[in-house]
Amino acid sequence: MCGIVGYLGPLDPKDVILQGLKKLEYRGYDSAGVAILHNGVAKQVRASGKLQALEDKLKSENFNGRLGIGHTRWATHGAPTERNAHPHQVDGISLVHNGIIENDQDLRDELIKDGAKILSDTDSELVAHLVAREVKKTNSLQQAVENILPKLRGAFSIVVIWNQSPDEMIAFKDGPPLVVGLGDKENFFASDVQALLKYTKKFIYLDDREIVRIHGQKVEVMTSAGQPINKKSVEINWSPDLVEKQGFAHYMLKEIYEQPRAVAAALESHINADTHRIQLKVEGPTASEFTNLLKTTNRFMIVACGTSYYAAQVAKYYIESLVKIPVDVDIASEFRYRSPILDTNTLFMTISQSGETADTLAAIRLAKEKGLKTMSLCNVRGSSIDREAFVKLYMQSGPEIGVASTKAFTSTLTLLACLALDWAKAKDQLKSEDEIKIVKALLAAPSQIEGVLNYDKYFNEASQKLKSYRGFLYMGRGSSFPIAMEGALKMKELAYLHAEGYAAGEMKHGPLALIDERMAIVMLCPQDQWYEKTVSNLEEAKARGGQIIALGTGEDERLKSRSHFYLPLPKAHWMVNPIISTIPLQLMSYHLASHLGYDVDQPRNLAKSVTVE
Ligand code: M6R
Repeated sequence: MCGIVGYLGPLDPKDVILQGLKKLEYRGYDSAGVAILHNGVAKQVRASGKLQALEDKLKSENFNGRLGIGHTRWATHGAPTERNAHPHQVDGISLVHNGIIENDQDLRDELIKDGAKILSDTDSELVAHLVAREVKKTNSLQQAVENILPKLRGAFSIVVIWNQSPDEMIAFKDGPPLVVGLGDKENFFASDVQALLKYTKKFIYLDDREIVRIHGQKVEVMTSAGQPINKKSVEINWSPDLVEKQGFAHYMLKEIYEQPRAVAAALESHINADTHRIQLKVEGPTASEFTNLLKTTNRFMIVACGTSYYAAQVAKYYIESLVKIPVDVDIASEFRYRSPILDTNTLFMTISQSGETADTLAAIRLAKEKGLKTMSLCNVRGSSIDREAFVKLYMQSGPEIGVASTKAFTSTLTLLACLALDWAKAKDQLKSEDEIKIVKALLAAPSQIEGVLNYDKYFNEASQKLKSYRGFLYMGRGSSFPIAMEGALKMKELAYLHAEGYAAGEMKHGPLALIDERMAIVMLCPQDQWYEKTVSNLEEAKARGGQIIALGTGEDERLKSRSHFYLPLPKAHWMVNPIISTIPLQLMSYHLASHLGYDVDQPRNLAKSVTVE
């Protein structure tokens, strides 16, 4: 969703802001703009569409000031036009905003009554008017921001500058993420550390309802009432290289290819590669506190959205099978508005790559409120969800830029398999020989993924032939069922084609009616405990004319002879199959979308970090 960059320092703000906004492109946006000081006045330049349009406009612009703010907008209130793009300017105030002001209609009515000339359809411009009105009374930008906060309802982060105070930026966060970057004689604001890695590795993550004043070289963090807060900064060790494409056509392709390394990194700190034993290393509680928590907990609940939700579905198979406790999995946007029955003997986990998904964040807060022990599985250390959790586990995937989640998903599956093993061990449910067998199988996964990636040329060729299908049904049983849903999601979000993920056994309860020769049936059929039943479902689909694309184990002649395309995968343990089977599904969607000429890294209408509900 929207991206914010603010800069005060000796460099040219135009360069810093543009570089930063480029690194935030992955979040999804449809217009962009900057306001940078020039001859004591913040000059506003905005453009609809991609950043290139803004960059073209900025080519002939020079700024002699050292203060500026920039924004990429993902439209909520009003179309993605230049007029609605940020920053919004009112009487010397320039403001960028991420999030939603829920009482915008009331504010609009009040401002119009007060004589304000409102130029855009956005809720954000209204905040600029409120600050401008207030700063006239207080002559202090910080005071003006403090005074208007009680008037705003919703979830929002804002950064604001004022022509009359050319050495100052004020930010406020209540919802969408905002970090302060601490440099040498320069300081920054950004929605995400990735925007600033080129300039600094030192960050302050803001909590909700905190105000920050950057004034000259000073950074002050305060409560919304202006009381000073002593915030610790953290060092982020991601290198700027990690957020470059490194020769790949798209970030997504690079991230698909990073999976052997990402899965190995996910395993590294939890597995002893010599003894083949598991010990999950979490942050938050001590090792013995965590083991004790696992030992005494008899119910597990996982809440997430999108791809992270499908990973949670796989965990249900892992944990119920190994730990033998009930596992409930829920979509965060549903969970928070139901009346979930929560008992305090439940371990409550949220999974989120970004750690910022608004619904997932609200879910973990709700669980905490109800007195449950919480655990998070995030990729971004220090993110809002990570900070809420009692037990913290990290994906270790490195930055994921492509909007479609790839390496974070396979790393998550890897860690959930480790959690299942560790938990089963804590509950004395795991035989030593089984532990060794599964750990060895997990350790083999990175090179097996490597092996699948070697077939990329073949997946690319196969994907060319998929253009003509009317729709895609992805089918699987057991732990392949959530992978079918994940495969279908990738097809929808990248190639904009209709795709459904189904439990193969459910086919005859409805979807069978859809099948004819224009329908592609992607059958996940690894040789596991669900194999025979899945082959029967494949036969049913084939008998109705469905075009079968089967994924199986090795040279499976039975599957080959029944399929239009057969994609062989290496033989793996059933807990590793979901990790391996994901790779061809990602590649098929990626290649098909590329052939169709779509923006693979930033699919239309989608955002990487969904910070509004
Ligand atoms: O950052 P999160 O894991 O919380 O994100 C959840 C979903 O928004 C995300 O997985 C989304 O479904 C992806 N675009 C899938 O590729």
